[in-house]
Amino acid sequence: MTASTDVPIAPDAHPHAATNGSAVAPVATGRAGAKAILLGEHAVVYGRPAIAIPVRALGARAEARPAVAEPRLSSALYHGAISRAPERLGVTLTALSAALEAAGGRAVPVDIAIESSIPAERGLGSSAAVSAAVIEATLRACGVTVDDERLHELIQTAERAAHGSPSGLDARTVRARAAVWFDGGRIEPVSVGRDLTFVIADSGVRGRTREAVAAVAARRHDDPEGVEAALDELGTLATALRRDVSSGARDDIGAAMSRAHVLLDGLGVGDPALDHLVRAAMSAGALGAKLTGGGRGGCVLALAPDLDAAAALSDRLTRAGAAAVWTTTVEGAA
Ligand code: PMV
Repeated sequence: MTASTDVPIAPDAHPHAATNGSAVAPVATGRAGAKAILLGEHAVVYGRPAIAIPVRALGARAEARPAVAEPRLSSALYHGAISRAPERLGVTLTALSAALEAAGGRAVPVDIAIESSIPAERGLGSSAAVSAAVIEATLRACGVTVDDERLHELIQTAERAAHGSPSGLDARTVRARAAVWFDGGRIEPVSVGRDLTFVIADSGVRGRTREAVAAVAARRHDDPEGVEAALDELGTLATALRRDVSSGARDDIGAAMSRAHVLLDGLGVGDPALDHLVRAAMSAGALGAKLTGGGRGGCVLALAPDLDAAAALSDRLTRAGAAAVWTTTVEGAA
């Protein structure tokens, strides 16, 4: 089964009254959250499973309303006519075009406003979340409903513009409410035995997912046996991790994360700034720490022994030079 979307897609455009009493164009919204990969990045590209968690503190929101003049886009990166938007907004524009194309005969030109607290290029799913929000808002503004699979495909269209041949993990996870198991392109909820509190630390170095994915492919070409062995081990770790998450075995979860970091580094997607934060997390009492997402920059994910320890861990990571830290708890049954 697939996890449900955060906000079901259904037309919810509603007129907002202007302060002078007259109605303004209806506004439709779309939302998606940040995600962190607990284990399995890169290995998923080669068919191994992965586990990802939502990061509730961070999210993206888009508003779409039928345009009354030339369609405009408003975001932290750009305010102006969509037709003149800069190239770096290419992924967002791909998402918008995909949604309008899916709306078919019901498509209407829309003004889009985007707000996102997810830092870009940090392995937290910013591009997929913004694309998901834009697609959802645009479809709603057009009064069009699509099923979950179609929505996933539309987000994947934008993700392909972001980094080539994405596994689909980001596109699925940014719309999930809980921890997910990703295998064969689909997600299932993961049962969580005990609360797990993670600290995410931003190295401040932009992650380079496309480059990192290409580097793993090149290494696999040069050293198929070595890389396959690492990918197999990551797959085995993910499978064991699912059981450990379910039983609440925090020490084992931490150990698997730390081992994954070493394996990812061996695949060539590490970065000295990430190693520095991993070491700082471990010396501050983390049960495990690893890079999360594409790597070569981006964020480190560390498992805290409990919520109190997470505060000390955040402090230490900030003092170690993290550009930002966030704490997120995946709630367990007990
Ligand atoms: O860096 P992010 O958040 O886009 O994560 C990429 C995850 C990879 O496994 C490296 C690529 C993929 O398509 O799954």
